[in-house]
Amino acid sequence: MKEAQQALRHLWQELYGTDKTELLEGLFEEISLFNQQYHPPALSPEWYKDVVVYSLYVDLFNENFAGLRDKLPYLNELGVTCLWLLPILDSPMRDAGFDIRDYRRIRPELLPQDEAETAFPAFLKEAASFGIRVIFDIAINHTSETHHWFQEALKSPDNPYRDYYIWSEKPDQYLDARIIFQGIEESNWARAGDAWFFHRFFDFQPDLNYRNPRVLVEMCRHFLYWLSVGVDGFRADAIPYLWKEEGTDCENLPQTHLLVKFFRQVLDWARPHTLLLAEACQKPVEVVKYFGQGDECHAGYHFPLMPQLFKAIAAESALPVMHTLSEEITPPIPESSQWFTFLRCHDELSLELVYVSEEDRKYIHDHYCKQDQWNFRLGQGISARLSELMDRDPQKILLAYAMMLSLPGTPVIYYGDEFGKTNDQAYYHQQIKAVGKDDTRFLVRGRIDWQELEAALQKPDSLAAQVFPRVKTLINVRNLYPAFGRGRIEWLKATDASGNSANPVLAFIRKQTEADILCLFNLAANQITFRLEGAHFSSFEMIAGEEPVYQAQTNQWTLPGRSWQWIKIS
Ligand code: GLC
Repeated sequence: MKEAQQALRHLWQELYGTDKTELLEGLFEEISLFNQQYHPPALSPEWYKDVVVYSLYVDLFNENFAGLRDKLPYLNELGVTCLWLLPILDSPMRDAGFDIRDYRRIRPELLPQDEAETAFPAFLKEAASFGIRVIFDIAINHTSETHHWFQEALKSPDNPYRDYYIWSEKPDQYLDARIIFQGIEESNWARAGDAWFFHRFFDFQPDLNYRNPRVLVEMCRHFLYWLSVGVDGFRADAIPYLWKEEGTDCENLPQTHLLVKFFRQVLDWARPHTLLLAEACQKPVEVVKYFGQGDECHAGYHFPLMPQLFKAIAAESALPVMHTLSEEITPPIPESSQWFTFLRCHDELSLELVYVSEEDRKYIHDHYCKQDQWNFRLGQGISARLSELMDRDPQKILLAYAMMLSLPGTPVIYYGDEFGKTNDQAYYHQQIKAVGKDDTRFLVRGRIDWQELEAALQKPDSLAAQVFPRVKTLINVRNLYPAFGRGRIEWLKATDASGNSANPVLAFIRKQTEADILCLFNLAANQITFRLEGAHFSSFEMIAGEEPVYQAQTNQWTLPGRSWQWIKIS
């Protein structure tokens, strides 16, 4: 406790000098009280390395928390061991809940309010009984304009909440900060009365002012509150933008890292191993800074790997993936840290130049943006679900999954993608009308129709029937081998009959003391025969995938088009 206090004092000093230290002392008292009152079950260190995450909107997945609870057996059978709940907090829902109105209240439509106090903890307990941990999304960079802090701030420049946000008489500050929602927003400033306020995303999402220490303390209290309720971690939305500094691009600033360290110290003190997951849409070299020395976030999304998985499939070449995961692009990370990997999420297939080259952006956009409507942010992304991008071809969908599930990191499954859910036009049209912005990301959201799904699963030639059971098998096999979540990766070279590199072959071993797994992929549409260099083993056992042909005398492998194989070797 002393150590935590010391560390927090030090961080405070760096951020705010000797300003308002009474707020810090107040926070210390609250954490001590928390520790006396609550004794949440201990989380094991690095638990986030062994899970398979499933990301969902509670209402779109199955109505509300009662509906989600009913589907826990489905998720358990699928092999899911961690739920990432997309925003569940009170919100006018203009940015799918990333515009928070009240940090302490779950949206009433998800949970009857008279039961809120007991029903959510009961849900968490039930999830835990299935071995499923639960983390949720919390937007800490901004609030909704309807949040009472902002409503107060609007009242007058002297209002005590005014300084919770960033104001200017003219929209002339932080002009080097890029506009993130290009094509939807024209400026990072919006007018309110005689003044302007700063917003990095939509104009209804004013950015919080972390130069005001009260904001930091309030946010820590919100974290403590949800820890007392029993959540296992938080996805820290839009983390690179927390601190703004004139003359910079306002991204990844040193003070932002101090803030993240502060949050981490608070979480570690209150409930050690509570997951802090960085949503930093940046190059790995920047994202790794959010791991600090193991004293910032535990985990972070690997943003550039995702588009390179798509490029690899389109180009029928392993090189984009190998290059992205080489140390040149992906630096080593602290022992306790972990990448989170994904194929699709609730946002667009993002091609930000921050981590995708112009050339790759063009290639991926040309190949995958099959309808003008899918274009997001003027070519910066593609709003389409996995099955749409993969031409509703089960083999391609499965190939993408198999790659994600074998490469280093903790995989995230986006709800519905496990059975090939398609874009939802009706939901998109309904939502853009409701929110007043042409946000094509609504195409990739939409409800699951469980009856329709069950009927589809009965028809062997439906997409769902061809995808779901195979994804389920892959995940469940993966869960048997810690090498996938924790093992190091050893790349293997594949050569063709003339000794040239067989580029369509992605081959590597995931190494871990318990068992090594050889992972082989043929990214080409046609069958391929190749030799592997550097793979030495005396015995092997196929654990998933399509049966490859191995000829021991010639050491030659043959894999059908767009297929893969996981092989346990010793
Ligand atoms: C993150 C979310 C995205 C949201 C934005 C603003 O990038 O993933 O959905 O619009 O933050 O909160």
